[in-house]
Amino acid sequence: MNFRDKIAIIEGFPKEGISFKDITPLIGDGEAFKTLIDEMAAKLRGQGVDYIAGPEARGFIFGVPLAYALGVGFIPIRKKGKLPQETVTITYDLEYGQDTLEVHKNAFPKGARVALVDDLLATGGTISACAKLIELAGGEVVSVDFIIELTELHGRDKLDGYKVESLITYDL
Ligand code: PRP
Ligand code: MG
Repeated sequence: MNFRDKIAIIEGFPKEGISFKDITPLIGDGEAFKTLIDEMAAKLRGQGVDYIAGPEARGFIFGVPLAYALGVGFIPIRKKGKLPQETVTITYDLEYGQDTLEVHKNAFPKGARVALVDDLLATGGTISACAKLIELAGGEVVSVDFIIELTELHGRDKLDGYKVESLITYDL
């Protein structure tokens, strides 16, 4: 299936000069969404993945059905102040300012093999923070998967040493 056709390109959102990649047509198409999750699950099956983890909000959209398809647990990585139990926290730089992400300290046993999933790799700031969080909590990041990668932003450079895959690439 051609998933690229299911991504809407919205010019000038959220601000002038940005070409926004909108996943809502993809997830709104039941057949396409199911095929996508089934294909991602097939790639991860047999890699000894114990958990899927992903950052809110769009990482949940793909991470949760993927975990369900694999029959493994899902670990939510959330913005500061949302998780009720003791957390591991990381603050990372955005284009303007900073953001903080958290995961429950006891979300998984030490040494668990965790596959990270998010919708989009742009600068790589979000996902490299997620990888560090999983490691701080004692897990091993066995793969990092995206639906979309914006190659010109070189997010992969921040993921040196990890197994990184994306389904659809755009120059920008
Ligand atoms: C978007 C996207 C990725 C991240 C990619 O999330 O869903 O998580 O940006 O950018 P980066 O590689 O430069 O870090 P956003 O923070 O906009 O929030 P959302 O998922 O809650 O919509
Ligand atoms: Mg996001």
